[in-house]
Amino acid sequence: VVLVTGGSSGIGRAAAIAFSHEGADVVVADMNEEGAAETVDIISRSGGRVCFIKTDVSRADEAEDLVKATVRRYGRLNCALNNAGIEGPACLTDQYPEDEWDAVIRINQKGIMLCMKFEIRQMMTQGGGAIVNTSSVAGLRGLPYQSAYSGSKHAIIGLSKTAAVEYAKKGIRVNVLCPGFIDTGLTKHVIGKKPHLEEKYKSLVPMGRFGSEKEVAEAAVWLCSDASSFITGHSLVIDGGASA
Ligand code: NAI
Repeated sequence: VVLVTGGSSGIGRAAAIAFSHEGADVVVADMNEEGAAETVDIISRSGGRVCFIKTDVSRADEAEDLVKATVRRYGRLNCALNNAGIEGPACLTDQYPEDEWDAVIRINQKGIMLCMKFEIRQMMTQGGGAIVNTSSVAGLRGLPYQSAYSGSKHAIIGLSKTAAVEYAKKGIRVNVLCPGFIDTGLTKHVIGKKPHLEEKYKSLVPMGRFGSEKEVAEAAVWLCSDASSFITGHSLVIDGGASA
């Protein structure tokens, strides 16, 4: 049983589909009902078991209800991909609007913390589980004009390492995905405003292309599977060699 936040589009949708292909029962958690319906439709049509639970990950009551509803429906929670995130405006640090900064931190950082809190409680009652949190290469280095995004993505790595150490003996593994440029709506949105950026960004990637949502999804599946059973507290970079 796998829970995927931000499963209504992009990397989250690709991961929900990839987990389903591996035979998982999937819970899609998101605020976007329309996108979620599409994810549910794709998985159901290929014979998978899936449901949508509308959730704002930045609210403690909704994060708690999400885990409870998952367990009510499927009996347990084996894996979670905490992936919901927003980008925030592009602004220099000294110009960054405080309310927008709060929103990015609330969703990207507090949202991960809240989801982990209730997932871990459930996983401890079952003797273990695997959690994967989506950070970014912007969680490993500064990203100009994105102080809130980059700050929140750095925080996700710290939160994940801490939980990995705290719950290792309880059989719960916690790992992190650090994608680089991935061909999703979020990336298109950034480039949409400045088309010349596409070639510029691709030139920064030794493989000369953006990654696909599926390439990130496959890493999430692997980090949730027993094939990675001795890996915890790790941040896996998926960037076509850009940070190398
Ligand atoms: P996306 O915008 O396609 O998907 C994000 C999903 O999160 C959306 O379905 C949105 O409705 C949902 N969401 C936003 N706020 C929420 C909230 N409060 N509660 C529940 N759901 C919420 O973006 P994409 O590209 O698939 O990104 C997924 C994750 O990957 C994000 O955390 C992003 O920061 C990260 N990432 C993306 C990269 C890229 O190149 N696209 C690169 C590195 C990291």
